[in-house]
Amino acid sequence: MALKQEFNAIDAEFYQPAETFFTAHRGLALTYDDVTLATLYSEILPRDTQLDTELAEGLSLNIPVISADMDTVTEARMAIAMALNGGLGLIHYNMPEKQQLSELSRVKNHVHGLIQDPIKVAPEQLIGEVLDMIEKRRFAFSTFPVVGADGRLAGLLSGHVVKPRYARRKVAEALTPRNQVHTIKQNELGANPIARADKFFTDHPGIHKLLVVDEDDRLRGLFTMSDVERITQERSAQFKLARDARFRLVCGAAVSATRNAFGDLDRDRILSHVDALVERGVDIVAVSTAHGHTKGVGDTVRMLRDAFPNLPLLAGNVTSAAGVEFLADCGANAIKVGQGPGSICTTRIVAGVGIPQLTALYTCSRVAQEKHVAIVADGGITKSGDIVKALTLAHAVICGGLFAGCPEAPGQMMELGGKLYKQYRGMGSLAAMKAGSAARYGQPANNTQKLAPEGVEALKEVSPSTDRILAQLIGGIQSGMGYLGAANLAQLREKARYIRVSSAGMREAAPHDVVEVKTGS
Ligand code: XMP
Repeated sequence: MALKQEFNAIDAEFYQPAETFFTAHRGLALTYDDVTLATLYSEILPRDTQLDTELAEGLSLNIPVISADMDTVTEARMAIAMALNGGLGLIHYNMPEKQQLSELSRVKNHVHGLIQDPIKVAPEQLIGEVLDMIEKRRFAFSTFPVVGADGRLAGLLSGHVVKPRYARRKVAEALTPRNQVHTIKQNELGANPIARADKFFTDHPGIHKLLVVDEDDRLRGLFTMSDVERITQERSAQFKLARDARFRLVCGAAVSATRNAFGDLDRDRILSHVDALVERGVDIVAVSTAHGHTKGVGDTVRMLRDAFPNLPLLAGNVTSAAGVEFLADCGANAIKVGQGPGSICTTRIVAGVGIPQLTALYTCSRVAQEKHVAIVADGGITKSGDIVKALTLAHAVICGGLFAGCPEAPGQMMELGGKLYKQYRGMGSLAAMKAGSAARYGQPANNTQKLAPEGVEALKEVSPSTDRILAQLIGGIQSGMGYLGAANLAQLREKARYIRVSSAGMREAAPHDVVEVKTGS
């Protein structure tokens, strides 16, 4: 007989399921660090856990992590990185609508492994100028396609000649001429461009770059052997890319409940923009506001549901069961939960409003179950353990600060006191609202004097790539699931047992009484 003991009466008194635990604490709003999860009998190895999650019918992710629709977090590059790892990026709306469409198209047209907009140089540039550009923009590579004034490929500038000793020579004097450069026509890439490029590199020993051109010999992309090799190795990775039915990467876009000059919902503008997003293949539209339990957001969601019956809709933000019920009844498939937990948020300080995240997730998750909608925990996540706790009540998490320092986030790096940083700002910060997000906070878009910021402008230390950050987060989630014996996210939600932590318990949880020489990250 297998020795297996899943239940013990003593444990049951201390480590309680969500219903009992949160009801017992109903006078107190709790967040991630206020609780810990009890370990349970397990037959599950972390590496065998499944992290797929469904946000709406027809929209599943392979990992339950979404990058925030913030102007210092998600544009095309971040959304591509998220989808390549099995997650989702929500493209922010603090940009002209046309630009949001083209960011979306960049994700939907992304060919895995193909650099679609490679950095080019011109024949008349000096090698010295190319060296300056490499230093200024901190490129880790020095080989560039050369494109003439007519837009056609003129050759390839090899890294071997991008040296200070040739600084005064023109690119035209040093390039490998067009007829010696290896290219492939765009329409010859076929259904599996990576396999095509992989075969090319095998057939051409010593060649590490393959340029893609169109019928007129205009540059359309670049494959590098190192990228192709990395991707081929990753094929065996556990979490597959998040793709749509046409094998394109999935991508979401945020919209706001825009108002016209008379203060009414600008129905025509919202509808025509979402129509254009749908035409370009958007997988989910997020109606993103600070207060989702409002007439304006409800009307927007209802209008989009009527116009696009099958379009997955994410709406928010709310922190109450009534808010979830309202948005679900308006037609949202998934609801964003979080008011004021974000690392750059000041809503609770400025407005005195908002609920610590775990209690908010609990109240919201109960009604979400009845309404058959998904819950997305938005903001306040600083470590993988927070994600495990969030996923005991939610179907996915949204992270801003965790990704804002990644190279894939918009914005330049800056150096301060010998360290590299990137800007990270709240969408309710003064600068972001001036750039367009005022409507998200129900503030006047045309009078910046009257704006009351609900977020700060901050810096994040530059972090490793989104791939590396996600690998750490996923490792943590899988480890948490292993401790709870949960093979998948549904089991995690069902099995979780909670207990409050004292402040001494919190201190005990972090490294203590040691001199740390290397952090865990
Ligand atoms: P994290 O903690 O991941 O939070 O950095 C990201 C989430 O914070 C929300 N957000 C804001 N909330 N004022 C707020 O009160 C703001 O200026 C602001 N900007 C973003 C948003 O939900 C995001 O996903």
